[in-house]
Amino acid sequence: MLIEAKGLKKTYKNNKGVRIEALRNANVAVRENECVGLFGSSGSGKSTIGQIMVGLLPPDEGSISYRGKSVKIPYGKGIRREIQMLYQHPEVSFNPKLTLLRSLIEPYQLMGIDPSRERILEDNYRFGIYAEHLERYPGELSGGELQRAALARILVLKPRFIVLDEPTSMLDAISQAQVVQILREIQKETGVGYLFITHNKALCQAFSSRFYRIREGITEEVSSL
Ligand SMILES: Nc1ncnc2c1ncn2[C@@H]1O[C@H](COP(=O)(O)OP(=O)(O)OP(=O)(O)O)[C@@H](O)[C@H]1O
Ligand SMILES: [Mg+2]
Repeated sequence: MLIEAKGLKKTYKNNKGVRIEALRNANVAVRENECVGLFGSSGSGKSTIGQIMVGLLPPDEGSISYRGKSVKIPYGKGIRREIQMLYQHPEVSFNPKLTLLRSLIEPYQLMGIDPSRERILEDNYRFGIYAEHLERYPGELSGGELQRAALARILVLKPRFIVLDEPTSMLDAISQAQVVQILREIQKETGVGYLFITHNKALCQAFSSRFYRIREGITEEVSSL
């Protein structure tokens, strides 16, 4: 197994001190080269699972193992690079004060790769990010452009596991199909495992080979949605 979360529980407290049981018993496992769908209605706990599995949020209870070893949040540096998330709201991935080019350069620097403008343009071409976008600030780009740029940026880090949190929510049907196609190609090239979070049943069925349904913080593996 690439990554496995078992018995996750998470309760949030809102600003009035009211407790919200977001996860009551969540179990999700993803193998290498696998795309696993996580389907459920709004507020059912999907993003909470995603944030826990990428190591951004510690669960109250439960365990995570990554490549056969138990891991604790916060993850170590190596695992932090290998496990990435494409956020539901792509604005959060970008510093509003940096041009897109400056943000896109960051992962190359982290990986010790020469981040030339040409290289960045070449790598971003398949995501529909071109020279005209590079000098703009995040506020001057559409949600779909930011989402595609965020994906391009994550892939530079050569992740082994990616949580895709509603990755196509900002895209029209044609760009949706294109992004799904690119995600498939990347999986073929790299063997990355995906957790594909969505409330789009048809897309989830088409893209994933196994499915979990979540209701009120409890997951269940199902053979079809
Ligand atoms: N930081 C937070 N503080 C308090 N409550 C929260 C917080 N984040 C999420 N919640 C609550 O926890 C529950 C699960 O939220 P979560 O974001 O995981 O749902 P989701 O399935 O991703 O929903 P959506 O499909 O709308 O994105 C919801 O009731 C939500 O209101
Ligand atoms: Mg969500």
